[in-house]
Amino acid sequence: MTETCPVRPAVHYWPVEHLDALEFDPLLHRLLREEPIARVRMRFGEGEAWLVTRYEDVKEITADPRFSRELTVDRPVTGMTPHRVAPVGGIGRTDPPEHTRLRRLVAQAFNRRRAAALRVEAQEIADRLVVTMAEQGPPAELAEALTGPLPEQVIGRLLGVPAADFGRLQTWRGVILSSNHSLQEGNAVKAEIAGYFRELADHRVRQPGDDLFSELVAAQTAGALSRPELISLSVMVVLNALDQVRNQTSTMVYTLLTHPEQLARLRAEPSLLPQAVEELLRFIPQRNGVGMPRIATEDVAIGGVLIRAGEAVYVSYLAANRDPAVFADPDRLDLTRDEAPHLAFGHGAHYCLGAALSRMEAEVILSTLLRELPGLRLAVEPEQVRWRRGSVNRGPETLPLTW
Ligand code: HEM
Repeated sequence: MTETCPVRPAVHYWPVEHLDALEFDPLLHRLLREEPIARVRMRFGEGEAWLVTRYEDVKEITADPRFSRELTVDRPVTGMTPHRVAPVGGIGRTDPPEHTRLRRLVAQAFNRRRAAALRVEAQEIADRLVVTMAEQGPPAELAEALTGPLPEQVIGRLLGVPAADFGRLQTWRGVILSSNHSLQEGNAVKAEIAGYFRELADHRVRQPGDDLFSELVAAQTAGALSRPELISLSVMVVLNALDQVRNQTSTMVYTLLTHPEQLARLRAEPSLLPQAVEELLRFIPQRNGVGMPRIATEDVAIGGVLIRAGEAVYVSYLAANRDPAVFADPDRLDLTRDEAPHLAFGHGAHYCLGAALSRMEAEVILSTLLRELPGLRLAVEPEQVRWRRGSVNRGPETLPLTW
């Protein structure tokens, strides 16, 4: 039997301050070492929640069906954004068996085999974009030139979203994935994006295409998922696809360019790339704060702490990735590291659906840039790079490069 702590620990107020570049959240760093299962309160929502930071505890909770996502629907758990980022009825807020059913419908589209097939197309897109960068000459802004358009075109093809609509989707993404707007604004934009996919679905019913969205529409017609589920699944996939790869790969380039000895190592040994991408995923603090909470469905003892039925729990994958019990010298970037799998894509039933796609896109982007632009470097001092503020996912606002 695990002994559990009878006294309620003090609550930490966690405003999730703005952090630049690769700076790690100081509260996460401290709690991981001093209070790995802590009580926190954030800027929005009500009450308090548990925050779990150790690698083993994070894995345990995320693999344990006694922690529910569905029970967070309609519960204003303390959090970092005024609205809930994930739409209600969305894949992130369901439990098995609904969750399993929804994942099955899209998992095929995002599996490793599909990612491998898409790699050829992604490589063609990357080649074209990097040739344009080279022709236009330095300096170039990375997200504008490569890390924005590449994932956009890849997900556009996969999902069948017309290229002309990405301007609007990017604007909605900017509002939904930020914490700098009111609840009303957030809800209005979520209604707009849902309306967009409803219209697209009506169109695809009449005129199906050879794409994932048409497959989902057909599945809805066949009764395998509901219309609200179809809409929220599409919104979730598009928002993640547009935001995460762009930020993550831009930050990967920044990280390599500001760790010249690691970059030299990778240039000397290009076959290290897949491993290097894993280490960059582990090392880069790619988000602010934490993702979606879970609710305990019964009393659960974890790491000597009793989490009571009905209490909200957050895990920090970022902190878990820096756990000194698992990663030696965890705050150091080491592209040859291979101690344990990182948790950047999460763990358990809600493990990221886009992991294989993201890995593939990161490899294509980094290998093409390093091969085609061997003199690549920042066009400004590292301190002059501007970083996004008040957003859920971290990344450079702009990344000016020269070569
Ligand atoms: C480097 C880029 C990315 C990172 C670091 C990332 C990370 C994550 C994390 C941490 C989770 C949540 C795990 C949890 O809830 O416990 C997640 C879930 C998810 N991600 Fe990603 N993601 C990335 C890219 C993508 C892309 C490109 C897509 C879509 C094409 C995507 C689609 C999703 C979906 C649909 C979920 C929800 C899965 C579920 O609840 O079952 N992600 N991702």
